[in-house]
Amino acid sequence: MIIAVPTETSPGETRVAATPDTVKKYFSRGLRIRVQSGAGLASGFADEAYRSAGAEIMQTAAETINDAAVVIKIKSPLPEEISLFRNGQILIGDMEALSHPAHIKELSEKGLTCLALDLLPRISRTQNMDILSSQSSLSGYRAVIEAMARLSRAVPLMMTAAGTVTPARVLVLGAGVAGLQAIATAKRMGAVVTASDVRPTVKEQVESLGGRFLEIQSNEQFESTGGYAGKTSATYRKLQQTAISRILPQTDILITTALIPGKPAPRLVTRQMIEQLPAGAVIVDMAAAAGGNVEGSQNKQTLKTERNVIIIGNSDLAAKIPFTASSLFANNIYNFLDAYYQSEKKKFEFNDDDEIIRAVCAARNGNLLI
Ligand code: NAI
Repeated sequence: MIIAVPTETSPGETRVAATPDTVKKYFSRGLRIRVQSGAGLASGFADEAYRSAGAEIMQTAAETINDAAVVIKIKSPLPEEISLFRNGQILIGDMEALSHPAHIKELSEKGLTCLALDLLPRISRTQNMDILSSQSSLSGYRAVIEAMARLSRAVPLMMTAAGTVTPARVLVLGAGVAGLQAIATAKRMGAVVTASDVRPTVKEQVESLGGRFLEIQSNEQFESTGGYAGKTSATYRKLQQTAISRILPQTDILITTALIPGKPAPRLVTRQMIEQLPAGAVIVDMAAAAGGNVEGSQNKQTLKTERNVIIIGNSDLAAKIPFTASSLFANNIYNFLDAYYQSEKKKFEFNDDDEIIRAVCAARNGNLLI
């Protein structure tokens, strides 16, 4: 059975779905791995390292995918690549299935089975397969690095002969996987961190990382099943904006991560609120691709207001640390595949009687399932 690893082609994508380490593991399980030449280069993995791990190196995407049973990818193929696939092949990766259902339809019309790892249920059995968690956590870390690199002031408290430098103040809105890692990173750098979330249950987690939790005084509940947030009411949004506005003048870095699965990102910061930040403050809107938490932010663009507030819109920050991001993503895919590999039969069994497979299977043999 052949597993194919073509080069990612989405603009700005630097990651790769297998590393020499995971290739070695697939190989030891009796699987054949085909890696497109150069697929790992942007992540720091040379063809030679894949070859030594047991992969066959192919020159083109067409040769790589050709007769593979399973194709593993970070992002799902671009429309112009779909013709390279064959009826019956299994495609695995981040398909952004909830936000791009039309794309899954196109893939299913090609006769593919699509296992969308972005649809994994968040249960204990899937923790080591969870691409959203591994990549969000790295993105939260990277958001802090991006912001601090652009900030015109130092971050930690410093007592020097020339004077005392006070610590920078960071506000994180949305304390899920990405937000919590942003809080931890900012704390490690010596910042004073405040965070808020619509789910009051995260207060304890924020505080355990050394952050202050900004409470919104409301009795309404917006936590849906599965621990995700739902859409907030107009009354809550007003209270939230007032609470956030109060601390914006003392905020040097604002990181927003708030998402509602399958829906546009909640608007948390208006243009007027941006004006309340000090000149030179930096915003990183990690929800930019889903419409943005910050009014006017644009995904993959850095903007500057007249008062020199920098607004970085980027929902793909994991791609800026491709070695680590690829390593974790590749491990997630390996763990997923390994759970369904029948070594005696030397094949994968993705059966519908398994709750994980039912959740991730967006299309099966050409039938659209979402
Ligand atoms: P997410 O990426 O969907 O959203 C990020 C954060 O934004 C969430 O904490 C959410 O509550 C918050 N948010 C949404 N709307 C907001 C608003 N209007 N105002 C303020 N904050 C808002 O969430 P993520 O990071 O994927 O985590 C969602 C849940 O999944 C959490 O409960 C987490 O603990 C859980 N989880 C469970 C796992 C497992 O059991 N295997 C693995 C990872 C996460």
